[in-house]
Amino acid sequence: MKTIIITGGAGFIGSHVVRLFVTKYPDYHIINLDALTYAGNLANLTDIENEPNYTFVRGDITDAAFLAELFGKYQPEGVIHLAAESHVDRSITDPMSFVMTNVVGTVNLLNAAKKSWLDSESGFDGKRFYHVSTDEVYGSLHNPDEFFTEETAYDPQSPYSASKAASDHFVRAYGNTYKMPVVLSNCSNNYGPNHFPEKLIPLMIHNIQQNKPLPVYGKGENVRDWLFVVDHARAIDTVFHKGKQGETYNIGGFNEWKNIDIVHLLCRVMDEKLGRPAGTSSQLITYVTDRAGHDLRYAIDANKIMNELGWEPSLQFEEGLNKTVDWFLANQEWLNNVTSGAYQGYYQDMYANR
Ligand code: NAD
Ligand code: DAU
Repeated sequence: MKTIIITGGAGFIGSHVVRLFVTKYPDYHIINLDALTYAGNLANLTDIENEPNYTFVRGDITDAAFLAELFGKYQPEGVIHLAAESHVDRSITDPMSFVMTNVVGTVNLLNAAKKSWLDSESGFDGKRFYHVSTDEVYGSLHNPDEFFTEETAYDPQSPYSASKAASDHFVRAYGNTYKMPVVLSNCSNNYGPNHFPEKLIPLMIHNIQQNKPLPVYGKGENVRDWLFVVDHARAIDTVFHKGKQGETYNIGGFNEWKNIDIVHLLCRVMDEKLGRPAGTSSQLITYVTDRAGHDLRYAIDANKIMNELGWEPSLQFEEGLNKTVDWFLANQEWLNNVTSGAYQGYYQDMYANR
C-alpha cells in the first residue's frame, strides 16, 4: 500500500482531491493533513470519512516538530501539498499569516519529506513531492493576445501571490539543490461545490439567494479564467502520476470571463431557479471600491498538460456553473455553517484534545 499525505484536504480544492484519490485508488492510504482553519471543514468529506484507506490528522504545517513526527509515523511515499492561506483580500490585511503558512509551512514540509525519504532505505526512489500552486504568481496580463505559459517570468502582485511564488521557488530549489523528486502545477481560478463563500462565485450565489448587495470591485472589468474544481482534481491526479520530475504544468480551462459578466450570468441563472422575474437579482449589483493592486487579467495556456499528459477539462462553464448553483441551493446547511463559523467551533471541540 502506498501512503500519500495530502495537505489542505479539508479545504475547497483539497477535499475534491482527497475524494478522488480515496475512491479511485483503494490501494493507497490517504492521510489528509489539515489545520482546520476558517477555510477547512470536514463536512466537505462526510461521504468518504469512513473509508478504510482514509485517515484525517489535524495539524499545522508551520509546526516542524509535529511534521517530523507525522512523517516518522506514516513514512509516506508521496506528498500533494495544497494547504495554504488562499484569499487575496485577506492577504492584503494580514500578509504575515500568508508568509507563515504558504512559505514557512511549505519549507517545513520539504524538510520533513527530505529527511524522512533520505532516512529510508530507498532514499528518493519512488518518492514524489507535488506542490499545487496558482497562476497568480505570473502577475497580471494587459495584452489580450497574451497567455501565461510555464516560461512566463514570475511577477507576483499581491502578498498572497508573492507568498505562493516564494513557495514555488523553494520547491524548485529543493529539486535542484538536494535532487528531491518534485513536480509543480499552477492553476487558474476554480469554482464548484464546497467553495468558501468569501470568493467571487460562491459569495454572489449566497448574496443573490439572500437578496443582499452583490459587491463588484471597481468596474467589474477584471478577467479570470475559470475551471470546474473536479477538473482541477483530475489534473492533479494526472500530474501526480504522469508528470515529469522537476517539471511545471499550467492548468486552466481556456475560459475567460469578465467579473461583471459572470455576476450577470449568475443573476440570470438564479432568477430562473428561484422563480424570480427576469432582471430581479441584477438590481442587487453594487459597484464598490476596487481591490488594492487588483490584477487585471489572468489567462492560462494549458497546452503543455493537454498535449504531454493528455488531460483536458470535462465540463463547459455554463454546465459547471449550473451544477455549482444547484449544489449551493441544495446545501443550505453547509452554507449557513461555514458563514457562521459553526463548523469551525464543532471541529475545534472535537479535536481539541488530540
Ligand atoms: P482553501 O482556503 O479552500 O483551503 C485551504 C486549506 O488549507 C484549508 O482546509 C485550511 O484549513 C488548510 N490550511 C491552512 N493553513 C494551514 C496550515 N498552516 N496547516 C495545515 N493546513 C492549513 O484553499 P483552496 O482554494 O482549496 O486552494 C488550495 C490550494 O490550491 C492552495 O495552495 C491555493 O494556493 C491553490 N490554488 C487555488 C485556486 C483557487 O481558485 N481556489 C487556484 C489555483 C491554485
Ligand atoms: O487564479 C487563481 C486564484 O484564484 C487562486 O490562487 C486564489 O486562491 C483564488 O482565491 C482566486 O483568486 P482571485 O483573487 O482571482 O479570486 P476571488 O474569487 O477573490 O476574486 C475573483 C475576481 O472577482 C477578482 O477579480 C476580484 C473580484 N471580486 C471578488 C470578490 C470576493 C469582486 O469583484 N467582488 C468580490 O466580492
